[in-house]
Amino acid sequence: MATTPQKSVSHELAHEDTAVVMPLHPTLTVDPGGMAQQLARNVEVFGAALTDTGHYDRHLVDRELSSVQKAYDNIPSDPNAHDKRRWFTSLSRSCRGELTPLPHFSFSQAVNTENPGPRDIKQMPDDLRLNPLVEAMTRYTVRVAEYFVPELFDDAVRVDLHAIRYQVHGAFLALSTPPFAHRDSEEVVHVILIDRKNVIGGLNYVGVGSRQCNIGFEMNEPLRGFMISNTTLHGVSPLLSADGGAGYRDILVVTVQKLADGALGRKYDQAN
Ligand SMILES: [Fe+2]
Repeated sequence: MATTPQKSVSHELAHEDTAVVMPLHPTLTVDPGGMAQQLARNVEVFGAALTDTGHYDRHLVDRELSSVQKAYDNIPSDPNAHDKRRWFTSLSRSCRGELTPLPHFSFSQAVNTENPGPRDIKQMPDDLRLNPLVEAMTRYTVRVAEYFVPELFDDAVRVDLHAIRYQVHGAFLALSTPPFAHRDSEEVVHVILIDRKNVIGGLNYVGVGSRQCNIGFEMNEPLRGFMISNTTLHGVSPLLSADGGAGYRDILVVTVQKLADGALGRKYDQAN
């Protein structure tokens, strides 16, 4: 008896004329609603994708957001920038999905030609790194990256977390690092607003599409964010106090890249 062939599960996109085929990596098992795949498609086609609180479990956000926001009050000063406080940590993400902290090292950023480093930024403490909401944001970024750069996940990958507070008062501005439009070296970068108080400015802009048209937007609610690739031109305008008093803008940046890339590769090799 002839049998009807089973229809295989397709991860191809609906519109074939603009389709970007996103193979599902073997380690990726859950993607309710296909949102991570759609975000990866937006990064692929437009160079950027916007994210918000809807990408995380609502109860988790209700329970954990305020403690993440409070933790930012304890971030130490960035020794290289008076307008910023900063923590950094680098993780190895195994093929099985385990996230393990790598030995702490001085952070370098070649694209920041004004201050490429290495910079002695203090390590993010475990209680913030392991906060369930921070872990959800970290894993969601990795999930999108699995669609966007599946070949990266044949091996362990490097996942960096940066907790940054931009602080302003009086006429003192806060500038991003680097302060000019640039492309990052990491394959996927996810910038997420944690909180902002008494600041104006901080308009994000990304160059999208083949002609790299600038689109500006403001992250004005906690957990609003955007994801970009290493080909996306982007920047953020200076921040200023809204009323002359103290103010701040807190962000979490999650990046995904090859484990052996950059300063870590050299440092890690030297240390081992
Ligand atoms: Fe950047």
